[in-house]
Amino acid sequence: MLDTDAWWRDAVIYQVYPRSFADSDGDGMGDLPGITGRLHHLQELGIDAVWLSPFYPSPQHDAGYDVADYRGVDPRFGGLGDADKLIAEAHSRGIKVIVDLVPNHTSSEHAWFQAALAAGPGSPERERYIFRSSGEEPPNSWTSVFGGSAWERLPDGEWYLHLFDVSQPDLNWDNPEVRAEFLDILRFWLDRGVDGFRVDVAHGLVKEANLTDWTTTSTILGGLDPAGPPPPMWDQEGVHEIYQSWRRVLDEYPGGRILVAEAWVAPASRLARYVRPDEMHQAFNFPYLDAPWRPAELRTVIDETLEANDAVGATTTWVLSNHDVVRHASRLGFPIGTPRMPGIGAEDPQPDAALGLRRARAATLLMLGLPGSAYLYQGEELGLPEHTTMPDEFREDPAWERSGHAERGRDGCRVPLPWEADAPSYGFGPSDASWLPQPGIWAEYALDRQQGVPGSTWELYRTALSLRREHGLGRGSVAWQEDAFAFRNGDVLVLTNFGSEPVELPSGARLLVSSEPLDGDGRVPTDVTVWAAL
Ligand code: GLC
Repeated sequence: MLDTDAWWRDAVIYQVYPRSFADSDGDGMGDLPGITGRLHHLQELGIDAVWLSPFYPSPQHDAGYDVADYRGVDPRFGGLGDADKLIAEAHSRGIKVIVDLVPNHTSSEHAWFQAALAAGPGSPERERYIFRSSGEEPPNSWTSVFGGSAWERLPDGEWYLHLFDVSQPDLNWDNPEVRAEFLDILRFWLDRGVDGFRVDVAHGLVKEANLTDWTTTSTILGGLDPAGPPPPMWDQEGVHEIYQSWRRVLDEYPGGRILVAEAWVAPASRLARYVRPDEMHQAFNFPYLDAPWRPAELRTVIDETLEANDAVGATTTWVLSNHDVVRHASRLGFPIGTPRMPGIGAEDPQPDAALGLRRARAATLLMLGLPGSAYLYQGEELGLPEHTTMPDEFREDPAWERSGHAERGRDGCRVPLPWEADAPSYGFGPSDASWLPQPGIWAEYALDRQQGVPGSTWELYRTALSLRREHGLGRGSVAWQEDAFAFRNGDVLVLTNFGSEPVELPSGARLLVSSEPLDGDGRVPTDVTVWAAL
């Protein structure tokens, strides 16, 4: 049955990247007490929930998406008691907590993989992963998302599959033991009070039985070709029964616990299959993130995703940034239609920062005017750009090495946040230490430079979130208007000017908020979004 009142249907969910949010002990790495200590800012911002990227014990070869123990906290980030405190503090502030679940692969340091290595070929321990014997050549032509072959050979001659880094062996989801283990992990965190799970690589768990050859390279968040045959490692029919079984577990718990899919699947109707009523609740809308800054394409993505989700009774999500992509304040500073790049380095073409921020603010205001649920990525509320000139020696993303330095990778969007302009590490922690270097321009983006400052990006987000709630925009609908890129959502007109000339607001419309000031004649300038009450 559809729960149309459920909290998540219009929730604004803020992604916390624990390494880079706030550091309580000065070691340069963010931690759980750091997050807890700054939750009041998120309450002030007006979000409904946080999603925490992984904080579990991990060798950190993929920034924690290589999990060595699903039921613990990495000592770098604190202990289980710190997780409990974070959850309790968030709840006391009316903020729900979603944690990241990484079921496609474990870390190679996970006890299961270590046991598999020790037990040798043919053992039940190896049956938890995808091992094959194929002689000198890998079992098939699959490539890793981070570059190179997806197979690694052990000294005993067997190969194991890793769709990501060599330190991230893929689990065998045909094995009932794997399925049982994850049901137990879900309960472990549900019992601790979490409100849901963001499911990493949700479209990858099941592989086609005969591991058919496939040469097309997958890129991070790269949608699958909607016209082509389904790749043998992605979006297999068998994933759905897994999520149905998880849903049954979540439904045993009170309060509306949710599953959100990270699935790079196209078209929207195919992705919507993950959010059917007995499956997950939400799926990230990456086509929206990837849509160029052009009205026709944006309108198409909005219509297609609303329609596809409506068809299964799900809420649509919207997202512009996360820890895997160049921040939208920088992406939008490139010529319109430039494909999303896998990271930016000092020698690469640089974005127009002012234009990027202007369009990013307009894009966000447009996104928050849409019905459904929206995901924000830490720092976008400060207007943070990508660190586009980070010296390569600091890069930690495995994609940088595995791609043979063809891809700069994702470090540029993961730089520790600036909280205070004049403090060491810009207030990220009590010392100067920061696991990735913060650019010198961070001072101007610091939270304390923006709080209470009219027109700052922080105040724009705060105003928008409060108006969104007041006018029920997350529960509304889209009615397109003629003559401009504009839609009506309840009593609010959302209008973005993509053109080169200023646009008039309809007579009688009362301005609620605009991403930049209107011009002297009260018209909406280029690359500006406004909300107006009708
Ligand atoms: C997801 C995560 C990404 C990670 C990958 C492998 O795409 O968002 O950060 O590298 O999965 O776990």
